[in-house]
Amino acid sequence: MPPLPCAELHLHIEGTLEPDLVLALADRNGITLPFADAEDLAARYAFTDLQSFLDVYYATMDVLRTEQDFTDMTLAYLRRAATAGVRHAEIMMDPQAHLARGIPLETCVGGVATALATSDAEIGISTSLIIAFLRDRPASEAMAVLHDLLAMDAPIVGIGLDSAEAGYPPSLFAEVYDVARAAGLRCVAHAGEEGPPAYVWEALDVLRVDRLDHGIRCLEDEALVERLVADRVPLTVCPLSNVRLRAVPAIEDHPLPEMLARGLNVSVNSDDPAYFGGYIDDNLAAVVGAFGLGIDEQAMLGANSIRSAFLGDHRRAELLAEVEAWRIAGHAARVG
Ligand code: ADE
Ligand code: ZN
Repeated sequence: MPPLPCAELHLHIEGTLEPDLVLALADRNGITLPFADAEDLAARYAFTDLQSFLDVYYATMDVLRTEQDFTDMTLAYLRRAATAGVRHAEIMMDPQAHLARGIPLETCVGGVATALATSDAEIGISTSLIIAFLRDRPASEAMAVLHDLLAMDAPIVGIGLDSAEAGYPPSLFAEVYDVARAAGLRCVAHAGEEGPPAYVWEALDVLRVDRLDHGIRCLEDEALVERLVADRVPLTVCPLSNVRLRAVPAIEDHPLPEMLARGLNVSVNSDDPAYFGGYIDDNLAAVVGAFGLGIDEQAMLGANSIRSAFLGDHRRAELLAEVEAWRIAGHAARVG
């Protein structure tokens, strides 16, 4: 079977920096790394929680210096994503992490945007860019970056909120989201990854998000689940990330089946694939293996991702037809 056609909606482009590319960029930029080789770097990916991952993630992205570095990283992701069945990707990036290192907005956003501009024609993946703000830095800084992005007419579809969750409630960013929405941008936010259900409520009611990243802790609050189901709020779930960051003990304990059974609008995504053991196909294979998901359930995950994407009607219909063709072929292959 070919891979399930799908949209990747929860992907941090800096989280796609594979160890080999880290070494190549360090070499190109004359940077001395505190580890010997790719194996030595990968050995550092034994995370105990979100913060332990973020420490490595922010340190490693220091190899990104030039616009070409950002372009090369993005192209490497898109090529790998194409083999995983990704037909549309809404890619997050963290400009504040680069600005803090002295890399201008034009360099990091421009480098990623250059790769995205060729993706449709050359790789066959339609794309859009989401700027994520770091919730453990001041909201005033996020606001300043948002104003700069709007002033330079950056090619972005929306904003997001990521980094260390606990202690940084969504409501801190209410004004940033108001300005973004007024400028015509779509709004997403990480909530309910490590943070409590109260943060998911705030993302919905204060930030008024179109989509939630993670959201798995919603299951702790019955009224919240009812609200998410009633409003068909998309939840971009990342199973391998949740296991590696110990939000859940093991893949067999992942709440995905319960979320589906409750009628939540769930898609499967890869978050930071270079760090968490796999791309979207690996994440799907993990949940298919752990829970014995059938062809129809997998197709539903693919269709959910496409319905939850910020797409025009034509592209959405085209991709939903691809999922339906995959579902029919899957049943035919099982009969034949
Ligand atoms: N930044 C990159 N990956 C993240 C995650 N899983 N949660 C919060 N911030 C992130
Ligand atoms: Zn994430």
